[in-house]
Amino acid sequence: MEVANGKDILMLIAGIHANHNAGVTLIDRGHIIFSTEEERMSGVKRDSSPFLTIGKMRYEYMPVDTQLSFAAISGFTPINNPTGNVIDPWSRENLYVSYLKKLKLITHDYQVVDFGNLHHLLHAATAFYRSEFENSIAIVVDGSGSPLDGLKNIEAESIYECSYPHSFKPLYKRTMSEGEISFTKENDCIYFNHPAPGIGAMYDMIGCICGFKILDCGKTMGLAAYGKQDPSLSNLIKYENDYPVGDYDIIDFTPRENHLGYFKFKPGNYLLEKTKKDIAFAIQEQSEQAVLHLINKAKQLSNSKNIVLSGGFFQNCKANYRIVKENPDYNFYVEPLCYDGGLSLGAALLQFHTVTPNGRIKNIKEKIKIT
Ligand SMILES: [Fe+2]
Repeated sequence: MEVANGKDILMLIAGIHANHNAGVTLIDRGHIIFSTEEERMSGVKRDSSPFLTIGKMRYEYMPVDTQLSFAAISGFTPINNPTGNVIDPWSRENLYVSYLKKLKLITHDYQVVDFGNLHHLLHAATAFYRSEFENSIAIVVDGSGSPLDGLKNIEAESIYECSYPHSFKPLYKRTMSEGEISFTKENDCIYFNHPAPGIGAMYDMIGCICGFKILDCGKTMGLAAYGKQDPSLSNLIKYENDYPVGDYDIIDFTPRENHLGYFKFKPGNYLLEKTKKDIAFAIQEQSEQAVLHLINKAKQLSNSKNIVLSGGFFQNCKANYRIVKENPDYNFYVEPLCYDGGLSLGAALLQFHTVTPNGRIKNIKEKIKIT
């Protein structure tokens, strides 16, 4: 770690992820000065609202008379979205914006970059910029991402074609939608809206059946090693339009509830009578196959020979090993910070490459001099 104290610093950017696994990353011209998660400050696992971490960045890693060029804020929804917005009771501003101003990290609204509706794109950006590939396909699989249409269509799986300085062309967007099924192609991107849970959400829900809490998928992966194949569990992930979807016959989708309450099992759920370790084995095997299927689809949608993997699902090291082993003709980068703890880094890097294409600075309204 180092303190930003060069004499000719041109640009400090903070990426701030404000939801679960909240974190802050400070970069100086693309170079990481500071990056950590709120849980390291508070001791609360997967903590959100990174006020302690913002304060640590301010007082331990930045001279007090300096400001940020940009604060790139990530979450699940835009910061002024009525559902996701958290408001200062007096100024009526977004609470994070108000806090950044209070700490003299910003003074103007133009210093705030709202990446709140780019959850999957930020996962892709984290992996792509750190991969050092000139171009790549990005496969993003996680529990849930941003709502793309109000709260109706929530990101489940995404495929992008990535290139410098900041091109993330969507090739596939599968969303968990409120009862509507559609499969369309627009501008070379397949949009697949379906009420079924995505691969990551299905894995999460199965973990709950196995006795674990939401987001505890690593425990399910460990339990799977003790299970065996049960033919009656072969449909946890199905295929429609030749793309994977979770088993919506056993799960209800309720998108207007809070983020961790989107799904619940329907009454009479047959999984309750099955052996937990065999259920874990089934979702592990079927999710591996589903992601391999997505990767084969991605290969048909892009000419790039490089693939980056991001989104919380890719903490699944068993799946990653199989993916790399079964695709020897492709170069892989698996993002270690593929879960939401990496989003502050992705937000900072994306903003840096957006305002400095080819290393040149544009649209900067002020230069920062640190003495
Ligand atoms: Fe995520």
